[in-house]
Amino acid sequence: MQGKTVVVGVSGGIAAYKAAGLCSALVKEGAGVHVIMTESATRFITPLTFESLVKTPVITDIFKEPNPAEISHIALADKADLFVVAPATANTIGKVAHGIGDDMLTTTLLATRSTVLFAPAMNVNMYNNPIVQENLHRLRARGYLIAEPGEGPLACGYTGKGRLPEPEQLMEVIRAIFRQKQDMLGLRVLITAGGTRERIDPVRYISNDSSGKMGFALAETAALRGADVTLLAANVQLAPPGKVRLVPVESAQEMYEQVINRLPEQDIVIKAAAVADYRPIATAASKIKKNAERINLELVRNPDILAEVGARKTAGQVIVGFAAETDDLEANARDKLIRKNADLIVANDVTAEGAGFGTDTNVISMVRRDRPTRSLPLMSKREAAERILDEILEIRAERT
Ligand code: CTP
Repeated sequence: MQGKTVVVGVSGGIAAYKAAGLCSALVKEGAGVHVIMTESATRFITPLTFESLVKTPVITDIFKEPNPAEISHIALADKADLFVVAPATANTIGKVAHGIGDDMLTTTLLATRSTVLFAPAMNVNMYNNPIVQENLHRLRARGYLIAEPGEGPLACGYTGKGRLPEPEQLMEVIRAIFRQKQDMLGLRVLITAGGTRERIDPVRYISNDSSGKMGFALAETAALRGADVTLLAANVQLAPPGKVRLVPVESAQEMYEQVINRLPEQDIVIKAAAVADYRPIATAASKIKKNAERINLELVRNPDILAEVGARKTAGQVIVGFAAETDDLEANARDKLIRKNADLIVANDVTAEGAGFGTDTNVISMVRRDRPTRSLPLMSKREAAERILDEILEIRAERT
């Protein structure tokens, strides 16, 4: 981060103290750091703490200019290579989402053209309030980045979503933003994520445990690297990444249709979704009543989307599948690679510690034709996404 300027906006929440750890980590990696605090943030932690860490004056009052030769909120807005708001309270999020600038932090945020990363932290009920969610959605839709809050015990006594990620977790996001190579500019990427639902009746379905985290990490990372990303999300409860075309789907059949319709214009297709292999032969129009002692549910095969994509693949396209396995990881993945005519299979042993459904980490192996399998150690899904995209670009480069 040498030579980069990061402006850290601290708004007034109990997690404000964690922003000190973030500033310290940014300084350690060589960034020039400027801190803007809201008035209420100064009730939780003093400006002196930040000044001691970052060695630049902390600004809180828009009318108190530390340097009369420049207008601070414009100067900082222009200087920032990255703007991080941590913690971002519901109040600050709401103001920026609606174009309000009534203090130093919000006016600078409105004036900046740099990448802005909000790290929301608040009580779980505040976070889940549809108004707050709508504001986050407005921000995302305009290209602001949002770091998902963590889950766990909150300062207010509640347990749930709303914790500010630890400084090291935020640093990982920030490093990814700076690492952004823009090496996927102009590439059209279709990613499927989540788990399909196969309806039995209007209120029941067959599904699986896929959280969509790996597919969403891939979509966000590819978009940060400049790709034009379409994300087909099957029943995912995660906030959609910014700058991504999100298309919700429910069943394997719907996913199949969306993938096949969009296939011709794609350069890269990544099938990270867990697709149900079977669906009920018919969906009952009304809720099935428990009249009988025993019922049979007849299932029919769903189309294998990856195999169909593999069969239709054109010369320039790179097709990537996933293989969640419990035994004979490499042999099964290699078999899938050939059978489905894919270019890369990302295999993971779902029984391994830190791998599989719902986790934030993964242990993956990359299986390609005519080369030994590359097995990677345990890493975050975001880091794994970077490595998968690197591998895809390598395949493209080798072809040309
Ligand atoms: N997949 C798909 N359509 C399906 C089933 C799976 O596109 N109907 C894709 C998944 O998205 C994944 C890959 O195929 O990228 C591997 O999925 P997996 O379920 O492991 O494959 P299986 O169908 O189980 O393979 P097998 O033929 O061995 O049963």
